[in-house]
Amino acid sequence: MVVPSATIDSLLKEKEQYPPPASFREGAWVRDERFSRDAAKDPERFWSERAKEFDWSRPWSTLLEWKPPFARWFVGGTINVAQNCVDRHAASARRNKAAIVWEGEPGEKRVLTYAMLMREVNRFADVLKALDVKRGDRVTIYMPMIPELPIAMLACARIGAIHSVIFGGFSAKAIHDRVEDAESEVIVTADGGYRRGKIVPLKRTVDEAVADLPVVRHVVVFARTKEAVPMQAGRDIGWDAAMAEADPVCDPEPMDATDPLFVLYTSGTTGKPKGVLHSTGGYLVGVATTHRLIFDIKEDDLYWCTADIGWVTGHSYIVYGPLANGATTFMYEGAPDWPHPDRWWSLIQEYGITILYTAPTAIRAFMRWGDEWPKKHDLSSLRLLGTVGEPINPEAWRWYHRTIGGGRCPIVDTWWQTETGMVLITPLPGVTTTKPGSATHPFPGVEAEVVDEKGQPVAVNKGGYLVISKPWPAMLMTLYKDPERYRQVYWSQIPGKYFTGDGARIDEDGYFWLMGRIDDVINVAGHRIGTMEVESALVSHPKVAEAAVVGRPHPLKGQALVAYVVLKSGHKRSDALRADLREHVRSAIGAIAVPDEVYITEKLPKTRSGKIMRRVIRSLVSGQEIGDTTTLEDPGAVDEVRKWLEAIEGKGP
Ligand code: WTA
Repeated sequence: MVVPSATIDSLLKEKEQYPPPASFREGAWVRDERFSRDAAKDPERFWSERAKEFDWSRPWSTLLEWKPPFARWFVGGTINVAQNCVDRHAASARRNKAAIVWEGEPGEKRVLTYAMLMREVNRFADVLKALDVKRGDRVTIYMPMIPELPIAMLACARIGAIHSVIFGGFSAKAIHDRVEDAESEVIVTADGGYRRGKIVPLKRTVDEAVADLPVVRHVVVFARTKEAVPMQAGRDIGWDAAMAEADPVCDPEPMDATDPLFVLYTSGTTGKPKGVLHSTGGYLVGVATTHRLIFDIKEDDLYWCTADIGWVTGHSYIVYGPLANGATTFMYEGAPDWPHPDRWWSLIQEYGITILYTAPTAIRAFMRWGDEWPKKHDLSSLRLLGTVGEPINPEAWRWYHRTIGGGRCPIVDTWWQTETGMVLITPLPGVTTTKPGSATHPFPGVEAEVVDEKGQPVAVNKGGYLVISKPWPAMLMTLYKDPERYRQVYWSQIPGKYFTGDGARIDEDGYFWLMGRIDDVINVAGHRIGTMEVESALVSHPKVAEAAVVGRPHPLKGQALVAYVVLKSGHKRSDALRADLREHVRSAIGAIAVPDEVYITEKLPKTRSGKIMRRVIRSLVSGQEIGDTTTLEDPGAVDEVRKWLEAIEGKGP
């Protein structure tokens, strides 16, 4: 693999260490290294102890049935996730505790206690039932960040329907493909949502997406902005009207622990997104345990994960993890810089938020906007900070620690993926001495390794592939309707081990340092984009013959997309066409996938077998040295691509 030696050298200079503050350690759930050692000795026992903390309608008979590559956790057990996330607390001393505290972008405030949340979830579950949604059916949810989004998810979980949440920034075409693949008969959406003071027209996008999808029987529309939107008679149903007629009691369906809870589409290395399928029992136990121990959740915490629920981070650590633990989860609808770049800091001060979990890309944006914005606010309520989504550069880590955390809050840099469902590599804030830029160690009961192509562990500080050696509870079950692709993508590279697609190294103290994706997936602003997906969007444009899309380092977004495009004969390069191509990607996938630069070129560099030399292009535009050319079909390729790139740059985009 290509591991830039420059990266390793710079990381090796990173000797700073931050032990947990004594005051934090004293009160933490985990304060003893022995906890991880005991879990490592007997992971099955560790997970079965954790699982006993939940309400099971029938206990499991087999903790883990592992028929590689398919793992089934808590086999024989039945459980309902919504019952565990809501009813269990509504029937306890937490009944009047805030479950969700929400602020809309225009500034409205709402609080839902566990008892209130329970009523809403019951009623919406009954609405779904009335629409003839049954156990195992798929429901697509395309909503803004409002409480009705988790309510809809929990209502699905309550009746055993499988939800497919689509991030509100995806285009009509992207929704169309996901609804078609999932065969969702019911869609839940809103008229719109607010982003930077503007209305995002969600319902109109859904209308466009499903116009030619007869499988869709009903679209339930929540009135968020109250703007008039077209409603199709017979198909479209207003949320409020349906809720008014719903039965306030809808019994939770006892689900098999091994039944699917949700599908979440994510980018892979082909043009077609993968439907990552997560389980009921294993997922619940995995996300609740990691959430409680990594974020050290206490009864009086006000916890804020800034992700959008449309991504896995929001599923696991805004909705299921926090609610399973009876915590209070904070939700904010809008943009971080609206109306000013201190919106987040004003929310933290106003509500007294104690735990903040966000992405390095956001941290870098705030750094750029300047210290004066956080400095205007009292952030002393914060006691713990977290990051996720991409490697954090030590400079951003230090800024976060000092400027946001006041130097007193531990930082948990959590590594995981849509497929892993839960965090797998992370500090435990009461015990782990952190090093800026390192996600530190595997979570208790998780076994991770860094190996070479043959699956052999690599030497200390040497880059290799990150693999997970044993199943973990929130591991994906499979790819929806595509077990073969599941086997091939995750279990064929290194037999018997889960292949993460990330490069990593382990330092002399056993700390894991993540080095980014080693496949054709890149992390742009903490979001995963398959370069192939963008390429197929580009070649679907009538004037495009071929396209190659690569990532290159970007000071704010971590990585940015650069596209090289060959036109069909008869078409000429122009600024208008480049703008048109970017627009085309926006409507095919969404704004997050639009390349920063589109170069129109005469040809793309290819290997003798006709493959575009993406890896070489990627390394060269990233300014990386090619560490290992042994796998290149043609050793002259690097020079050839270098010349090709110079020729393009000379001509300008
Ligand atoms: C990257 C997001 C370094 C990684 C939860 C992974 C990280 C991909 C970290 C998954 C981290 C996530 N340090 N890299 N702490 N967290 N990644 O599926 O490349 O959207 O494979 O899940 O993000 O992205 P996904």
